[in-house]
Amino acid sequence: MPAAPIIIAIDGPAASGKGVIARALAAHFGFAHLDTGLLYRAVGWELRDTPQPSPTQAEQAARRVRESGTAALAERESLLRSEDISLRASQIAQLPEVRAQLRALQREFAQHPPDNAPGAVIEGRDIATVICPDAPVKLYVRASLEARARRRLLDAQRAAEADGSAPAPTLAAIRADLQTRDTRDTTRAAAPLRRADSALLLDNSKLSIQESIDRSIEMCEAQMRAARVSHPSTAEKPAHQRGKQQT
Ligand code: CDP
Repeated sequence: MPAAPIIIAIDGPAASGKGVIARALAAHFGFAHLDTGLLYRAVGWELRDTPQPSPTQAEQAARRVRESGTAALAERESLLRSEDISLRASQIAQLPEVRAQLRALQREFAQHPPDNAPGAVIEGRDIATVICPDAPVKLYVRASLEARARRRLLDAQRAAEADGSAPAPTLAAIRADLQTRDTRDTTRAAAPLRRADSALLLDNSKLSIQESIDRSIEMCEAQMRAARVSHPSTAEKPAHQRGKQQT
């Protein structure tokens, strides 16, 4: 029987840098990657013309997203990333009906990562607490509100320059949106954002992107070794590859 996929569960607040870290970890370990925020964004997008959706309407939208599957997300990613859809996603993410629909899709990805990958990096708000509580590797990525707002401002400025359309929002507006989402994500009754007891904490407020990536690879490898999960990067190296050559 093939070994069960190795799951790396990553949680953290909006703009904490977990997306960049998750993509780098997936490339490093040769794992599949799922940004679960895109699923909630896709439900928000489905409901873009319904300002106050009922729980039933939201559940139906989540069912459509579930039926389209995770592969359909990539091609719509830039549409789903707007600040408008971010706020909408955090509204509908409070509904247990929506979360239940998306839970099955996320667990299916964890159990059968695409392309027979030997593992999956799954990022979101409740991955270590609800979706994959048995994952051998769990990280909680956070950064200060100020650092996150500045990162999002840079992203928005680059996007505005690239497509020349709407001007980038101000730092104050971005900070306020992040705060609104932080409050909603941490205080909702259904699967609130919190650090799982067994998750290692990475605060990257003062780290460069490369430092965050290097640190998170070390943390994952340490957790894989502790859980005795076998991956080439954690295997004992033969003597000739270890440190100093013997003479
Ligand atoms: O990219 P960013 O960090 O700004 O947000 P995201 O990860 O794309 O998530 C958008 C919204 O979806 C969040 O504010 C959460 O309300 C919700 N979400 C969730 O409830 N559970 C997840 N596993 C992922 C996202």
